[in-house]
Amino acid sequence: MKKVISAVLAVLFCMTSMMFSACGFSASPESKGSAAGAKKLHMATNAAFEPYEYVEGGQVVGIDAEIARVLCDKLGYTLVIDDMDFDAIIPAVASGKVDFGMAGMTVTEERKQSVDFTDPYTSSVQVIIVNEKNSKVASADDLAGKTVGVQLGTTGDIFVSDVNDVKVERFSKGSDAVLALTQGELDAVVIDKDPAEAFTDQNIGIKILNDPFEREEYAICLKKDSELTEKFNTVLNDLKADGTVDDIIKKYINDN
Ligand code: ARG
Repeated sequence: MKKVISAVLAVLFCMTSMMFSACGFSASPESKGSAAGAKKLHMATNAAFEPYEYVEGGQVVGIDAEIARVLCDKLGYTLVIDDMDFDAIIPAVASGKVDFGMAGMTVTEERKQSVDFTDPYTSSVQVIIVNEKNSKVASADDLAGKTVGVQLGTTGDIFVSDVNDVKVERFSKGSDAVLALTQGELDAVVIDKDPAEAFTDQNIGIKILNDPFEREEYAICLKKDSELTEKFNTVLNDLKADGTVDDIIKKYINDN
């Protein structure tokens, strides 16, 4: 009798797992299937980059988080945000560990070797932050021979590393570079304009030099040849055209 019961149970078990896998469900709640039944898309970011992504009340908020949420909604996915070091984002996207990366990320030729980018959704520039008092840096030309803080693996890091004779201090967070600047350990910090403004608003005694570098475009990165890229572009371009992207940006950046 026992044998019969276990045989029946085994058959039932196989049938149920076959049904589930055929329907595309997964037993692991982490990989697929949210409460609402929508599939999840994992977004890699580095949430120390206000106003694009930062943690508030235990949640990742900001321009990128909001655009990503609308984008995923429109495509019928549930967004899951994975916060990591900035220089871990491209490897995570390229290896398929996450579905896409969105992190105020500048499109560069070098990055295009490892990932694909959507169309840009906004633009920015690198700027130089210095201490208001006793700064030996008045423009980019003065960076030579100085100690300059950057966030590891960013375009700021790339630019500063190209300056002759500069001592580059690489931080895993832009805010740590700014802290070191306010403590007199650095002559300058090079970082994207909007986070620079957020930092100077929050810290007394530092200022942004009016000598920006060239324009950069921010876009979402995806695994090479991902079928999601075209879908993202279609929705992203709709969201740009109907003013949604602008409204989200204006909510976080007051440019007056
Ligand atoms: N735009 C710069 C880059 O792509 C900096 C981005 C840093 N982003 C961040 N979430 N920490 O390299």
